[in-house]
Amino acid sequence: MAVRKIIRMGHPVLRRRAREVAAQDIGTEAMHRLLADMIDTLRDYGGIGLAAPQVGENMRLAIVHLPEEAGGALNNATPTVCFNPTIEVLGDETAGFWEGCLSVPGLRGFVERPQHIRVTFTNPRGETESVVARGLLATVFQHEFDHLDGKLYIDRISDPTKLAFEEEYARYWQPAEAGG
Ligand code: NI
Repeated sequence: MAVRKIIRMGHPVLRRRAREVAAQDIGTEAMHRLLADMIDTLRDYGGIGLAAPQVGENMRLAIVHLPEEAGGALNNATPTVCFNPTIEVLGDETAGFWEGCLSVPGLRGFVERPQHIRVTFTNPRGETESVVARGLLATVFQHEFDHLDGKLYIDRISDPTKLAFEEEYARYWQPAEAGG
């Protein structure tokens, strides 16, 4: 296990569509090592999600770890591992969150996204799994899966005045947004 370096915005690898993961590649020793590295990396950097392209791996793989107390509903101690995920929007409701990204360090941006979705993916045992997600968890899945299509959250900011450095975000935006 090892902490990988996270690739930052500007590197072309973050802007390409990642490849599907073949079923026979999911249970391999190499894949176990990559998953262990991604989990270590996520913990070390202190994030809530990480996509394989962010550590230079061209594959449709992302991990999400949003503890229940942080608004998640996965209720597990380890990250949810998603191979070849798809998203189905279940309802019209949208809401915005101030998103951050380990590949765009130091910044926060306000992005509105659907808030009631179903995600379907292959898990590390090769089984198909579905999770219905709402609120922040729905946003985190969409943010991570965007990475697999070469998209960053900054592409989805509709109001450019709501892109801020973390210090200015904390000073000027966080208090106002916290209650809502
Ligand atoms: Ni990100």
